[in-house]
Amino acid sequence: MLRTVHATRYVLPLREGGSLPAIVEADDLGLYVVKFRGAGQGVLALIAEIIAGEIGRSLGLRVPEIVFAELDASLGRNEPDYEIRQLLKASTGLNVALDYLPGSVMFDPAARDAAPSDEASLIVWFDAFTQNVDRTAKNANLLLWHRRLYPIDHGAALFFHHDWDAMPARIESPFAAIEQHILLPWASQIPQASALAHAKLTPDVLAGAIADVPDAWLESIPGGLSAADRRAGYLNFFTRRLAAAHIFEQEATDAHARLV
Ligand SMILES: Nc1ncnc2c1ncn2[C@@H]1O[C@H](COP(=O)(O)OP(=O)(O)OP(=O)(O)O)[C@@H](O)[C@H]1O
Ligand SMILES: [Mg+2]
Repeated sequence: MLRTVHATRYVLPLREGGSLPAIVEADDLGLYVVKFRGAGQGVLALIAEIIAGEIGRSLGLRVPEIVFAELDASLGRNEPDYEIRQLLKASTGLNVALDYLPGSVMFDPAARDAAPSDEASLIVWFDAFTQNVDRTAKNANLLLWHRRLYPIDHGAALFFHHDWDAMPARIESPFAAIEQHILLPWASQIPQASALAHAKLTPDVLAGAIADVPDAWLESIPGGLSAADRRAGYLNFFTRRLAAAHIFEQEATDAHARLV
């Protein structure tokens, strides 16, 4: 179960983020990065943020704590920026927020950042499993904080949920996009990552990540399915993709071999 906090102060927009996320202070005195429900990417991005993020955490990755941030209409009323005011207005109610990591910097191989091979392999495995194309040199979405790696921004993961009719065909996808993964050069331990992931991602663990998504968000997905049916659809995808993992693992192993 994710915690819910109440947003008390809009602190700063994060202009580098395409969805205009922001640093927001909450009633527990914490600072969070809020991913707004009213942003152009829509509610599917927030569903992916939760499900993929919690799967990552179950694998032992350092995904910053994910909470719900409740926004009321008064929050943005005095914001001078029109775009921000509109975004806040469209996002009253529940949003997704991540614990803000002050002083973190983006992982950057050009600045000689390097990653441990066990962790790099696990993150590569995780992104191939959840079909996340958003961890490239252009946009690492990987923070360094206290010299450790923190994966963020899973809104583009779960590519399949944009087209449920085509979902069955995506279960066995090798995920060729892994070629562009920023950690691929260090991902020399895909078999070990696979063994760890298969041990950790039990059906209960996967169902737990899916259970965190609010019913109303699942019901808003076009197609008119109930929240329970939608949850079953996600669980079906992940259990079958896990059973077919050897396909994307081979692709990642081959892509890594081509680099070194
Ligand atoms: N938990 C966090 N702690 C500190 N900084 C963060 C955190 N989450 C995000 N950021 C910063 O905010 C930026 C935007 O966040 P994020 O990547 O989640 O947004 P986005 O709109 O999905 O971005 P994108 O343009 O990659 O799609 C990040 O690149 C990072 O610099
Ligand atoms: Mg990002």
